[in-house]
Amino acid sequence: MTADTRQARSHPSGLARSARLLQLYRREPVDPTPFYEFLATDTVEVLHRHGAAVEGLVVDVGGGPGYLAEAVRRAGGHCLVVEYEEAELHLHERVPDGAVVGDGQALPLRSSVADVVHSSNVLEHVRDPRRLIDEMVRVLRPGGLVYLSFTPWWSPWGGHETSPWHFLGGRRAAERYHRRTGQEAKNLYGRNLFELHLPTVRRWLRSEPRVETVWEGPRYWPPSWAPLCRVPAVGEVVTWNYLAVLRRVA
Ligand SMILES: C[S@@+](CC[C@H](N)C(=O)[O-])C[C@H]1O[C@@H](n2cnc3c(N)ncnc32)[C@H](O)[C@@H]1O
Repeated sequence: MTADTRQARSHPSGLARSARLLQLYRREPVDPTPFYEFLATDTVEVLHRHGAAVEGLVVDVGGGPGYLAEAVRRAGGHCLVVEYEEAELHLHERVPDGAVVGDGQALPLRSSVADVVHSSNVLEHVRDPRRLIDEMVRVLRPGGLVYLSFTPWWSPWGGHETSPWHFLGGRRAAERYHRRTGQEAKNLYGRNLFELHLPTVRRWLRSEPRVETVWEGPRYWPPSWAPLCRVPAVGEVVTWNYLAVLRRVA
């Protein structure tokens, strides 16, 4: 049995997976690596389940220090990280093997080159999220898969480090954070954190003729809870973090 197979077999599923994610997530501020490594392994699992060619070329838009890149490498593939902030490539004393500094809204890649295009929690950080989706689809080859996740604004974590005060307004939450800590939030409302709602993104995905949705639902909850993301209004809150797996069909 290869190390990869052993890892896949030991990776929890269903409620056990969600409980483990929650446990690691709560420790993330003091010990980030276990959470991001678990999530990266989990992402490769999800991609395999949907038949993605992970052993081909994976592009990770906004991939930071390369946790997914490492998991893809272990699975026998090659991952190119396209990251906007050079400093993010060096987080947690890591740096991805293959990375370029570039904007996901104008990917420095030719069309139809990637087998998989991945973006985790980047969409709510860009001024033109629709353009980012458009670019992800452009560089994907027909038949390839997109893995797209983001935190909707009305998620309990929608305001990121200013949560839950974002429920009273993003600007107010950012001002409160500044007053309390003496510094600006890293994810600053209006600069690199924007109000992006789940129904808006779902509508865009449905209206994009080049892709079909293979799976959508709350990323951290058991797959059987997928319908939560379709519940009007409250669905955005309880989904917490949304995941769509898309296939390029044209
Ligand atoms: C919340 S972090 C997520 C990092 C990583 N994808 C993950 O899930 O752990 C958001 C990342 O998106 C990057 N980012 C923001 N705007 C971007 C853009 N226009 N193009 C590419 N990356 C961008 C940030 O620099 C940061 O690394």
